[in-house]
Amino acid sequence: MEGYTASLLLYTFLVLTEEFQITVGYLVDPESNIQCLKNYFYKDFRPIYMNMTTKSEILICQTWKEQEYFITRYSTQYKIPIYSAYRIDSLKKKYSNYGKWRNESSVGLQNPIKQAEHLDYTYSGFQRGHLNPRYHNQNGADNIRATYTLTNAVPKTMETNIEWFLVAEQPLFKEMRKRCFYPNAKRYIIVGVVLGKFSMKSGRVNIPSYIWSAAYCDTSQINHTDRAHISDWSIGYLMKTDDKSYANGSIQDLQYNLQKLTDSKVQLFNNNVHSHQQISGLKLVQRTKSRKRSRPNSLSCETQKKSLNTEIQNEQIPDENEY
Ligand SMILES: *[C@@H]1O[C@H](CO)[C@@H](O)[C@H](O)[C@H]1NC(C)=O
Ligand SMILES: *[C@@H]1O[C@H](CO)[C@@H](O)[C@H](O)[C@H]1NC(C)=O
Ligand SMILES: *[C@@H]1O[C@H](CO)[C@@H](O)[C@H](O)[C@H]1NC(C)=O
Repeated sequence: MEGYTASLLLYTFLVLTEEFQITVGYLVDPESNIQCLKNYFYKDFRPIYMNMTTKSEILICQTWKEQEYFITRYSTQYKIPIYSAYRIDSLKKKYSNYGKWRNESSVGLQNPIKQAEHLDYTYSGFQRGHLNPRYHNQNGADNIRATYTLTNAVPKTMETNIEWFLVAEQPLFKEMRKRCFYPNAKRYIIVGVVLGKFSMKSGRVNIPSYIWSAAYCDTSQINHTDRAHISDWSIGYLMKTDDKSYANGSIQDLQYNLQKLTDSKVQLFNNNVHSHQQISGLKLVQRTKSRKRSRPNSLSCETQKKSLNTEIQNEQIPDENEY
């Protein structure tokens, strides 16, 4: 009996310790000077995007096993992230691990009045859609796991989740490989939402009407002698969630659309991420479905489709896949 009690105590201790070690984020004062802000916001600039109402919004430095991975502005009123900001540090596609979705008990959000819980998504018809996606976190399995927090998830239908992967997450990663493949480049990304009119579970969890992302390739750390043919690069993506129309373009064009959609000033990166292009806004269109290839290509096309499907599945059904 005593042995039993002892092992029960030990078990409890281990579980608690484990839980403690895996604690998942801490609150950040947006006015502070803390390293987490500097790591994930380019030049330490806090995006200007929908007025942050201090009462119902918080900044979370997202950690996993005591390491910091990204930062999230979370709305306790709408119970979704407004955006997550992160960096792509590895452009090698090595990891296809999953995570297990968890809630954020460590940042004073234990109360389901303040955050979405698993039950909100169960049988809702919506998936937990990553803002900072699995696909962009290739620094290791823990890097991927760090993204599996409900504070980094918004309700997306399966179709929207797949489409966003196809028109934004994957092309952005590939484009980064083409245009920002320098050892000392820093790749800053912000992925955010425009709040929608509808919500899951009678008003609890907002269903975004748009998803957007903005990416900047900062090459200023690159040795000057190597800089001759290198210039900074940026891109913005926007997708309407109900009809899945989308567009990509300059950050300025994205900001123009977001300003109209949110009826407030928008500036996602600091001033030197500005091109001199004419701002015309993004024109959203639906993706044209690729036509069937002719015979000779069909095999490779089929293979491609298969690997894409696997990729999408990995992206889509993380809940069933525990680490
Ligand atoms: C945001 O805040 C600014 C200044 O505090 C104010 O002028 C503006 O009207 C606010 N916008 C919204 C949409 O609340
Ligand atoms: C968070 O997760 C823990 C463990 O899975 C659970 O006990 C708790 O009720 C959850 N809280 C919320 C708000 O979902
Ligand atoms: C931008 O969108 C166009 C279609 O409008 C697409 O052909 C192109 O591949 C996209 N570029 C990137 C980098 O996502």
